[in-house]
Amino acid sequence: MTRGSDDPISVPPHIAIIMDGNGRWARARGLPRTAGHKKGAQAVQRTLEAAIDLGVQYLTLFGFSSENWSRPEGEVFDLMGLLRRYLQSETAELHRKNIRIRVIGDRSRFSEDIVALIKGAEEMTAENDGLNLTAALSYGGRQDIATAARAIAEKVAAG
Ligand code: IPE
Ligand code: MG
Repeated sequence: MTRGSDDPISVPPHIAIIMDGNGRWARARGLPRTAGHKKGAQAVQRTLEAAIDLGVQYLTLFGFSSENWSRPEGEVFDLMGLLRRYLQSETAELHRKNIRIRVIGDRSRFSEDIVALIKGAEEMTAENDGLNLTAALSYGGRQDIATAARAIAEKVAAG
């Protein structure tokens, strides 16, 4: 989409995107699902640039849900490889773009090196005041609501 500088459009302060269709994209081209996941990761780049260009303050990307852990082992392995490589190769660039990175989800399920990469990305970008990027990884809406409800119940029980 191109936008003339005098076209007034109202930009929501927060946009959330559920990343989906990688497998269908690949299948339609006779490619393995991995190729679709790779292409999906590349689409993140364009999305970030568009969000920055439009002045979006918060961008939430739902990339990998808690349910996705039950996909075939080989696919989970590929996705973890992709996540690892993405964090290794893109964190410095996101920092250069003044993006603040936060990850929500159950990170205890990731391998130690990925946990460290996530922590490193959050720490490196913690002072940035540009786009707020939240990556939902190993994230479950139900799990999130259950955790919040439990915390509220504990507060109530504690008076
Ligand atoms: C989204 O694409 C990527 C993840 C959820 C990891 P899908 O893998 O769900 O692709 P489709 O829905 O099978 O096309
Ligand atoms: Mg899907």
